[in-house]
Amino acid sequence: MPYGHGSATDLTSSLRRDHEVILRMLRRLESKLDVWKSTNRVDRGSLREFLDFARTFIDRCHHGKEERCLFPCLERRGIPREGGPIGVMLYEHDLGRQLIRQIEDALKGLGQADNRHLEVIELCESYISLLRQHIEKEDNVLFPMGENVSSLEDRASTNSCYEQIESFEVGREVHEKYERLADSF
Ligand SMILES: [Fe+2]
Ligand SMILES: [Fe+2]
Repeated sequence: MPYGHGSATDLTSSLRRDHEVILRMLRRLESKLDVWKSTNRVDRGSLREFLDFARTFIDRCHHGKEERCLFPCLERRGIPREGGPIGVMLYEHDLGRQLIRQIEDALKGLGQADNRHLEVIELCESYISLLRQHIEKEDNVLFPMGENVSSLEDRASTNSCYEQIESFEVGREVHEKYERLADSF
């Protein structure tokens, strides 16, 4: 099955595939951080590429699919938003957005102060650990819960909602471009 075309027989496999791409990209960023630390230099081009991936693939597409397709379905099936796992996931999506904005700001200031590259590296490390623990909670707790409570109809409508975002809002070619980037970054 081509990437991104979720099977309507389950609720979350399309999101799990996104997670694999995201984790691959985070591992690649992590090895770049090791180099940047040892050379005392941040490669701005690579960092810009990563920020573009984070804004488009992670936030607009993947978090869009969760916030607009999966979470509303889970709420309809009785999984609470406020004070429950969905609220925590939404809060962490926001923390991720804030970190990306902070990295962008620190990137603008690179070269203006000697210690700016350290700030960039630390912010990237915080982003990596936030996303890893977030994905682990989704894969191991929230998604299995969703599979347990969803009906066949829920699965079909949620998968067509994912498809709407990937194909029409983000664009199939754009989605595939970022998937390839995670292999070549
Ligand atoms: Fe999420
Ligand atoms: Fe996710």
